[in-house]
Amino acid sequence: MHYQEYKANLVRNRALLVRSTRPTLHQKTNHFFLKTIYATLLKTDMKTILVVGGAGYIGSHMVKMLLAAGYYVVTLDNLSGGYRDAVLGGDFVFGDSADRNGLDRLFTGYAFDGVMHFASFIQVGESVQNPSKYYQNNVAATLTLLDAIVDHRVNACIFSSSAAIYGEPQYVPLDEQHPKQPMNPYGLSKWIIEQILTDYDQAYGLKSVCLRYFNAAGADPDGQLGERHLPESHLIPLVLQAASGQRESITVYGQDYDTPDGTCIRDYIHINDLCQAHLLALERLLTGAESAAYNLGNGAGFSVKQVIDVAKEITGQPIPVIMGQRRAGDPARLVADSKLAQTELGWQPQYADLTTIVAHAWQWERATKK
Ligand SMILES: NC(=O)c1ccc[n+]([C@@H]2O[C@H](COP(=O)([O-])OP(=O)(O)OC[C@H]3O[C@@H](n4cnc5c(N)ncnc54)[C@H](O)[C@@H]3O)[C@@H](O)[C@H]2O)c1
Repeated sequence: MHYQEYKANLVRNRALLVRSTRPTLHQKTNHFFLKTIYATLLKTDMKTILVVGGAGYIGSHMVKMLLAAGYYVVTLDNLSGGYRDAVLGGDFVFGDSADRNGLDRLFTGYAFDGVMHFASFIQVGESVQNPSKYYQNNVAATLTLLDAIVDHRVNACIFSSSAAIYGEPQYVPLDEQHPKQPMNPYGLSKWIIEQILTDYDQAYGLKSVCLRYFNAAGADPDGQLGERHLPESHLIPLVLQAASGQRESITVYGQDYDTPDGTCIRDYIHINDLCQAHLLALERLLTGAESAAYNLGNGAGFSVKQVIDVAKEITGQPIPVIMGQRRAGDPARLVADSKLAQTELGWQPQYADLTTIVAHAWQWERATKK
């Protein structure tokens, strides 16, 4: 079968998946059949990965990297916070991880080798105002997804966790053993799922890797993708929006912390380094490794003031700053100890330098303003 014909068939198969309410026998077998033929033609053992939340900031970069690494990629996203045009390839299925019937159709139509789960709500402040929204989506919908994964006998799951599970740091840098005392519903939702994953491994044999990100930052070095949160709450895009005139100023919350320049220190990890760690974690699971949890950060903290200074340098623009009060629950330093990921996954950040992270984010910021 010619590759074009293979692709056309997959598109037809996807259309069937999206439209049908009950999977057909044709639909059930089509993907297995076509995948096998394509893999034979290319003499590869092509694996199929479901990326849930693949239209979002991190998920879209992951889809791009998986495609480049030779995986067959299917994105499931309800576009509540993502963008269809951020999914640069593979199949896109519009749907919700809380929809068990939809998940059953999806898992029946494709033979997934693994699932990467990025889908959640992500605003810490909103999670305090409206915890129900967060527990419904981040916990209940994730549970529905995990049950589908188990019932359809997929045995590898990568979960987007967060440094928010640790709460107020008792020591810095934070390693994986640090006590887990999340201080808001967002952080607790992540910690609940981590514990559920431990139980699901014990009871059902589902192998997972929980990746605890510190601050994901930067953009695709090729300039095709970047950060597009609405509303935006992350420091680097906010600073760059102030540089580009998209917002009037940037507020710095607190300048009397016990840090060299008085502003908070955070650990910024380049989006491609983050995705690289996911790829390594996935490959490890696919070769039969045990479940694990890893911190992902640069290990080098940068203060809010340092970020603003670097942004001024890169953009050549003034960045109006408003000095605000400290925010409740903002620790002075939040820096990762990522040695475990480096040792066990063989992961090494390539873009650890703050200047590169900000330069890539600025390239994206300018491209989206055109
Ligand atoms: N951005 C960071 O710095 C950071 C830090 C720590 C952890 N995380 C975690 O990483 C993951 C991805 O974060 P992001 O910054 O890319 O967020 P994002 O909002 O850009 O992406 C999340 C995606 O999930 C989709 N989604 C949400 N709920 C869904 C559902 N029920 N069904 C289907 N799709 C759904 C959204 O439409 C969006 O495309 C999240 O789980 C987040 O908690 C992010």
